[in-house]
Amino acid sequence: MKKPLFLAPMAELSHRAFRELLEDFGGCDGYFSEMISAGALLAGGPNEKWYIDAGPKPEKTVFQVIGADMGQISQAVAFLDRLECAGIDINMGCSAPLIRKTGAGAAWMANIDRAGELISRVRPLVKRRLSVKLRIGFKDDFDYLVRFCRRLEAEGTELITLHPRLVTEKFKRLARWEYVGRIRQELKIPVAGNGDIADAKELVRRAGGPCDAVMVGRAAVRQPWIFSRAQAALSPNSQDSSSVPNIEKTGIRFLELLAKYQPPEFHLSRAIRFFGFFCDNLKWGNYLKTKLNREKNLSGIERVWRDYFKDGSE
Ligand SMILES: Cc1cc2nc3c(=O)[nH]c(=O)nc-3n(C[C@H](O)[C@H](O)[C@H](O)COP(=O)(O)O)c2cc1C
Repeated sequence: MKKPLFLAPMAELSHRAFRELLEDFGGCDGYFSEMISAGALLAGGPNEKWYIDAGPKPEKTVFQVIGADMGQISQAVAFLDRLECAGIDINMGCSAPLIRKTGAGAAWMANIDRAGELISRVRPLVKRRLSVKLRIGFKDDFDYLVRFCRRLEAEGTELITLHPRLVTEKFKRLARWEYVGRIRQELKIPVAGNGDIADAKELVRRAGGPCDAVMVGRAAVRQPWIFSRAQAALSPNSQDSSSVPNIEKTGIRFLELLAKYQPPEFHLSRAIRFFGFFCDNLKWGNYLKTKLNREKNLSGIERVWRDYFKDGSE
């Protein structure tokens, strides 16, 4: 059976405009939204409507919720589950110290009972698929990870995504994919693996390994065509499609989508985030990133982007 390929939740990246771009290239099987703060959502801030836009494929989009307070998370989850979406994901993996300090993200992994109680409270509020994204934990302790995940499973979690790094590990240390296969053997529910996939070839390789689904983050921003490439390679009558799409046009298309689907106050930060990865396709990408970072609005970004290609730098 074909394994689902997912877009990872990424703050300021996994939003509607980017999903639209991925769909241009053929899309993927599931889109996890950028993390949505339960507290901010309930406070009804002016920007929340942009976070809960599940377009263009709500039936494939999962809202990811982050928070520390069980009451707030429960209310946020109940609200989100009433919108059109594919499921609700609870963030138990965010390692950012400022988030962890509040008791949110990976802080949930410090206490099995607290995490179990959260799932038992939100479970009756979610009619769609309830999932959790997590890391190995605070220590390299596989038994603890097994007990943690079994508790989540017992409380009704239907899918676990493991980003197999310790909470304290940054991207420099490679993801320990062997944990994905090992934890999968201990659970009845499906396990998605995530971490360090660089291109479509590697995505195909991971999908062929011991996991039930594969999630891709940064490489999907660098290569928004990664999923369709991998799906093509996985299909029985696959043809070689290794040529790289037009980079300049793809960048312009992303800017159009950003202007259409995100509010002006998000434009600059989201463009900088995107091009921070997408420029890696270019020979002088680092130089271009520095230039883009100096711009103050979307039209400045577009001008610098177009100028780069006019210069004949590529
Ligand atoms: C810019 C950025 C933002 C992220 N934001 C989130 C987030 O909102 N929620 C989450 O669970 N993980 C978040 N992550 C982690 C990714 O979902 C993923 O686990 C990680 O990048 C490893 O996958 P990759 O190697 O395919 O990028 C973020 C990662 C990056 C690079």
